[in-house]
Amino acid sequence: MLVSLPMKLPIPPLPGSSKINAVGRLEVGGCDVVELAREHGTPLFIYDEQELRNRCRAYMEAFSSRSGDFEVIYASKAFSCIAICQLAAQEGLSLDAASGGELYTALAAWFPPEKIFLHGNANTASELDFALRSEVGHIVIDSLDELMELDRAASQRGRRQQVLLRVTPGIEAHTHEFIQTGTLDSKFGFPLADESALKAVAAAQKAESLELTGVHAHIGSQIFALEPYRQTVAVLADFLALAREQHGFDCRLLDLGGGLGAVYGPGDDPPAVDQLVEAVVSSVEAEIERRGLPLPRIAVEPGRSIVANAGLTAYEIETVKTVPGVRNFVAVNGGMSDNLRPMLYGANYQALIANRPLAEPAMTATVAGKHCESGDILVKAAPLPEPVPGDILVTPATGAYGYSMANNYNGQPRPAVVFVREGRARVVIRREAYEDLVRLQERLE
Ligand code: LLP
Repeated sequence: MLVSLPMKLPIPPLPGSSKINAVGRLEVGGCDVVELAREHGTPLFIYDEQELRNRCRAYMEAFSSRSGDFEVIYASKAFSCIAICQLAAQEGLSLDAASGGELYTALAAWFPPEKIFLHGNANTASELDFALRSEVGHIVIDSLDELMELDRAASQRGRRQQVLLRVTPGIEAHTHEFIQTGTLDSKFGFPLADESALKAVAAAQKAESLELTGVHAHIGSQIFALEPYRQTVAVLADFLALAREQHGFDCRLLDLGGGLGAVYGPGDDPPAVDQLVEAVVSSVEAEIERRGLPLPRIAVEPGRSIVANAGLTAYEIETVKTVPGVRNFVAVNGGMSDNLRPMLYGANYQALIANRPLAEPAMTATVAGKHCESGDILVKAAPLPEPVPGDILVTPATGAYGYSMANNYNGQPRPAVVFVREGRARVVIRREAYEDLVRLQERLE
């Protein structure tokens, strides 16, 4: 679904509707990116709405074309706002809320509560109560403390809450250590390596106000291989066989988490959604049947693979500085406040100039942010055509964990977000104003 612009150098992973328009500028969703920047200001997150929908549909269609019951759960931590929740609901997806705040956002979008899964390794009593009150479909239990608290709270509310148990399968997913979650040394879930997870099954079954419907595992993010998913299924199937034998537990929902990688630059080659779904479904069928277990409904929780490549960020270049013999710095009016990923994970992005994307690159530049930290670098080495202040610089593939990790460091208001489609841009998150920065603050007497 990604398009390649006819450029000589690294091909930026832009959404499907991207093209060079009649005046030689970058266009996405039928909208001229330079015009978007002029009208809505910069930095600006731009999402190709059709690309978002296509990616949701890729998951739904891949599962529908196979037999068996399934659920595609959008992990809203990747990008959470009312509009994306509406879009996910329209496309038939369920929703993973990582906190009370994401749950609130989904409910503000009128997301059907019965299709919401509340996650979290340290949910507070008030978040759990909020979820119960909202009648969410599932709560994914991460610890025995949470299990007991939820049972108590559910009984107080006179509700029987469906729950999944999050387990840690001990699988190495070959991704950045900070975004790898399924290994044994993890703060998430019940480890399968000892009796913890089996004990949790017994505890959940005993809890009168909880109904244990299944098991959840998430092995990491930005994953390019299918083998870890197959291994996870095998490990989970072993566990389910034991849980059935020892506790008569029948798993009705097997949630394999998210993690499929996105394309940030050359060399990134994640499997297609269809391949992931094929790997997951066929290994569940094989492993579950081999152990004589009933086939559960299969769920996945994609975040990044739905939103990352549908989004891009437009900045204005403020200054171009050459340190002779060292490097060329191109500084833009955003940075680590709208994209923390380079700093947190050493993530690398591409850059292009939206007002002349086809111009021959004349230099290699380091794209720096505007924050007072030397490490605030968005792109280490971008081939750019003689950049000048006022140019609109675009970093593609910023749709996941960009806005959702945005912050106000150095008093930087968070950017606006627009959805573009068929020549129309809709603001789905307004730009913060300076007043917003002090909105919650009180003066000393
Ligand atoms: N389900 C659970 C329980 C998760 O913890 C996550 C991501 C997902 C689903 C979605 O995973 P995805 O399909 O997006 O890979 N901030 C990091 C990513 C952290 C991912 C945390 N969990 C980054 O910017 O790379």
